[in-house]
Amino acid sequence: MPTPAQPRKTLKLGAVLVGVGDASASELWRDEGVPLDASVNLKWYVQQAREAEAARFDFLFIVDSQYITSAYPHHHLNRFEPLTLLSALATSTARIGLIATVSTTYGEPFDTARRLASLDLLSDGRAGWNIVTSQDAGTAGNFSRAEHGDYQTRYRRAAEAVEVVTGLWNSYETGAFASSRQAPEFLDKTKLHSLDHEGEFYRVKGPLNIFRSRQGQPPLVQAGTSPEGRDLSARVADIVFSFARTPAESLELAADVRRRAQAYGRNLDELLFMPALNVVLANTQAEAEQIEAQRAAKLSLEKMHQALSRQYNGHDFRHYPLDEPFPQVDAADAAAGLSQFRDEIEHGRQRGQTLRQVLYSLQTPWLRLVGTPEYVAEQISQWHASGAADGFNLFVHHPQDWLRFRQQVVPLLRARGLLSEDYEGATLREHLGLSVPEHRARGGEALRPGPRPGQARG
Ligand SMILES: Cc1cc2nc3c(=O)[nH]c(=O)nc-3n(C[C@H](O)[C@H](O)[C@H](O)COP(=O)(O)O)c2cc1C
Repeated sequence: MPTPAQPRKTLKLGAVLVGVGDASASELWRDEGVPLDASVNLKWYVQQAREAEAARFDFLFIVDSQYITSAYPHHHLNRFEPLTLLSALATSTARIGLIATVSTTYGEPFDTARRLASLDLLSDGRAGWNIVTSQDAGTAGNFSRAEHGDYQTRYRRAAEAVEVVTGLWNSYETGAFASSRQAPEFLDKTKLHSLDHEGEFYRVKGPLNIFRSRQGQPPLVQAGTSPEGRDLSARVADIVFSFARTPAESLELAADVRRRAQAYGRNLDELLFMPALNVVLANTQAEAEQIEAQRAAKLSLEKMHQALSRQYNGHDFRHYPLDEPFPQVDAADAAAGLSQFRDEIEHGRQRGQTLRQVLYSLQTPWLRLVGTPEYVAEQISQWHASGAADGFNLFVHHPQDWLRFRQQVVPLLRARGLLSEDYEGATLREHLGLSVPEHRARGGEALRPGPRPGQARG
């Protein structure tokens, strides 16, 4: 087993708001406590954001995509664009961090840099960027593109996009603008820097027309777990978001990303690992398991097929026998989904796992803790103590579980010294214990060079 990293003093907590429910909560919309328009209901988001802030969560996390079919998870069908939503939430919250998913495969880095910097200033240093390469190949059809691009191309583009965005965030040095009406000029032009970037995908001159917030720049989150995804995390991520289901899985990912990050000369203390988490909470273990079983019994086979199909580029599995070994499908379709699921399904197939078993396993795509608040707090503490997680990204699903987590699990974690009573800092970087990056003109470093085309580090 890889050597665990030193656990961090306090646990980090993110709340992933998914309205009427993502693929792992396809029946959430039937819950009486969830508005039927939850994914486009600002009042509902404001309520959840304030609840998360009152429980001292470090950040809100808004996932996103730009492609749907009628078979997509309910939350995907009708939802707000993350930066627009978080700009609204910035004005109804005061301390909690605001992390937006923005794709590097679709969208121009100048625009991404500007919109994220705007959220960062609007929120006074609380913005973060979840860098995604976009999973859905169909997105190409919404952006006038002939093709989505393979892994290597999308990740190379992502690394270059991050280089441009972070470069643009260094356009103005602190003190570039007049601080009094007696200053000789409104702008000290020696403190304005253009970028003059010319790369494989982008030519961006700069400078950006907005300056840095008090946190310097939004922290960066990366979630892909393929070798290319791990390499991007190692190069640029402050937070690695994963779907690790066991501490061993998370420790393996962390050890590998840290090894790669060391090769890039990164400070390993500034690299946080935060797996996704679901909870089902009740007063007794038996009751929690009963709730979980009741929810599982309501899952529709059709929805399970849709979740699986999305991981295989829309391939239809409904014609295969359910209780026979998982079928072998076209290599291009098999390469479409998240590498974690692909690897798991492939290992299962080698062990003779059936299609039905795969369908059910995809319903719990990440860590799900079912039990009493004491049990859940104990599990979280053990993950943290082993170095397998610096914190968790909690998917906010059923309101009763969300309430119990805030009112019962959080106090137990506090009693163990894992969470502080109140926010100690003001910015997202301060919540996460990350330093403010020095301006590049003042000695701050640009990104380390990545692998050259065709040389992804494996
Ligand atoms: C925990 C997690 C969260 C993700 N969230 C999003 C998202 O919100 N939007 C998106 O387009 N892709 C998302 N992705 C997909 C990744 O950006 C990437 O495209 C995908 O994981 C395939 O790369 P991989 O095989 O390296 O994991 C997520 C992936 C993971 C593991």
